[in-house]
Amino acid sequence: MSFCFNFDLPAQTTQADEEDGKGEKRAEKSSAAPPTKDETKPLEHVKEAREHFPPSDPNFDLMDAVSETVTIGTLPPLHYLNETVFEKTASEREDSESILSRTVEQRSDLISGVYEGGLKVWECTYDLLEAIEKHGETFGGKAVLDLGCGAGLLGILALKRGARQVHFQDYNSTVIEQLTMPNVMLNCQEDDADSEDDKEEKKQEEDGFKKQAQGKVEVEDGNPPIKKRATDLSQHLLLTRCQFFSGDWSTFLDLVQKTDPSPKYNIILTSETIYNTVYYPVLHDALHNLLAPDGLIYLATKSHYFGVGGGLHLFETFVADRGVFALSHLWDGEEGLQRHVVILRIKKPKET
Ligand SMILES: C[S@@+](CC[C@H](N)C(=O)[O-])C[C@H]1O[C@@H](n2cnc3c(N)ncnc32)[C@H](O)[C@@H]1O
Repeated sequence: MSFCFNFDLPAQTTQADEEDGKGEKRAEKSSAAPPTKDETKPLEHVKEAREHFPPSDPNFDLMDAVSETVTIGTLPPLHYLNETVFEKTASEREDSESILSRTVEQRSDLISGVYEGGLKVWECTYDLLEAIEKHGETFGGKAVLDLGCGAGLLGILALKRGARQVHFQDYNSTVIEQLTMPNVMLNCQEDDADSEDDKEEKKQEEDGFKKQAQGKVEVEDGNPPIKKRATDLSQHLLLTRCQFFSGDWSTFLDLVQKTDPSPKYNIILTSETIYNTVYYPVLHDALHNLLAPDGLIYLATKSHYFGVGGGLHLFETFVADRGVFALSHLWDGEEGLQRHVVILRIKKPKET
């Protein structure tokens, strides 16, 4: 998206103070200044988690979709809705949270407790994709959670790499319904095209893909290379491995823990989710309760989020104080505002 989605700049803050007809809090912009301590205090209004189900005729919406493709090294190409087109058409669409029109109007990357930034792909997602590629993570047969998924590229990668189950969680139901799910479906469409009569096309795509593999990140704009077919994707094998959730991390944890069996993920992927220290207790709780004993959390983040206050150093201190996870650095970037990819795993008894 072209508008100001960057925590490097002071966040525009809001106060949730008005109830709309659907019981959602409506927010009003209060200031464009950096948030004060009061504005990052725990929210009284907790967004209740719920599960979302893919529509049975998803291609109806996807036939005209303009998508982009990101290709990193030897990873499979990942397709997602073009951010500029998405932004331009956003305010015309209905969403129960009204975040589409609001983010465009306010040109805001974050409305704390109302909109948590999931409508674009954040740069640390690309760092994490690259780190995963270099680290040689294999997702085959694993249960994976993309926590704070936004566009969902991390979970989509896990899905395409053979994860047996991928759960996508985002704070906003609009993000899940209008961005994450369509993106997963775009990638299912490609899978369909591959499996039917497009062997030659696939070969050409792979040839191009091999060329791109020598570079780093490639993002192709414009019309997608994938074939779109008006079929019901809701029963698509890849999609049947996915579940989609919106809501706050504390209620998300409650919701999934009520299921039988409740999930324990082998891998949790999370990018740009530690910008607000207020959320650390619920985030840590969710990670602790949802990670399988031998599981891994891949976390990508900036060192510091100006205007919001969180960042890796504060999170590392928080994690060390809790004593649950061992944290190691997988990748540390040097350029500009520092970015990092770290791995967390549950400490063994002798480490505690
Ligand atoms: C900056 S966006 C990053 C989106 C995506 N991971 C990326 O890298 O492009 C932060 C994400 O964290 C999630 N998030 C932040 N605070 C949350 C909270 N308190 N409860 C649940 N989700 C939260 C939101 O879903 C939001 O999409």
